[in-house]
Amino acid sequence: MAHAEYKETPEVRMGLDFGFKGDDIPKYWMAGDPFRTRMMDAVQATFPDGERYFITTVMAFKDQIEDPELKAEVKDFAMQEGQHGRVHTEFNERLQRQGLDIKRVTGMILKLNNRRLKYFSAKYNVAMTAAFEHLTAMMAELFFAEKRVLAGADERVKAMFAWHAIEEMEHKAVAYDVMQKVAKVGYIRRTTAMTHALFSFTLNTLIMPWFMLKSDGIGRRERLALYARGLVWMFGPRKGVFTRMVPALAKYYKPGFHPNQLPSVHNYDAWKNTYDQSQDPMAASEAMYAAAH
Ligand SMILES: [Fe+2]
Ligand SMILES: [Fe+2]
Repeated sequence: MAHAEYKETPEVRMGLDFGFKGDDIPKYWMAGDPFRTRMMDAVQATFPDGERYFITTVMAFKDQIEDPELKAEVKDFAMQEGQHGRVHTEFNERLQRQGLDIKRVTGMILKLNNRRLKYFSAKYNVAMTAAFEHLTAMMAELFFAEKRVLAGADERVKAMFAWHAIEEMEHKAVAYDVMQKVAKVGYIRRTTAMTHALFSFTLNTLIMPWFMLKSDGIGRRERLALYARGLVWMFGPRKGVFTRMVPALAKYYKPGFHPNQLPSVHNYDAWKNTYDQSQDPMAASEAMYAAAH
């Protein structure tokens, strides 16, 4: 049976400003919750170096791409990722000013990515990128399908995640197509890389907030209590924010999977229409959030 196709068009949006240069965003911007904030801060801290790694692994196959449409998509993908890297770097500088040793974190991520580039094949690296891109493409569904996830979050940070999530959905199939059509990566390598990417993502997401909270001066006992509550919020059996994503994740392991089989988040148009009319990522984020369930 043929699958329905859900394809958005990548659009490069440059120079967006979310006001991260000033320090008026609350330290615990996620509704005052230290665990949730530091978890989100940690995930986004890996982005600038992650984006550069994604671009490098896809660009390794640039000269072998013959399809002009895919060639153009790769260019837009690289430009979108470059812009994401720039904004998340500004956000990281904000964290550094709070006294967190973010440079040490990004230094470790850079080392890890460079090690991957050095020791794994180009095919495996692009398969890692396709896997990570599946995770980032789920960001919109994860954070913006329902109001409860980002309820009470600072509007500026919310708007950054909305913009990034939207563009990840727009280019969700680009790295995958390069991996499959150009690098000719098969099922085993593709799913092994996903398992590897998942393991690495989960480990980082769980370990990094621990040290960030420690650096915030929160004692061990209180950190354990924050983690106990936070882990239920993330992985609780019924309402866990990440638990909801398991079916979309499992689809990646199906032979014959393609990212365009997954529909865009239901309030994608609310963001896009508002942005197209106003060129304002804050207004677009507000419209998207208002349209969430
Ligand atoms: Fe990105
Ligand atoms: Fe991406």
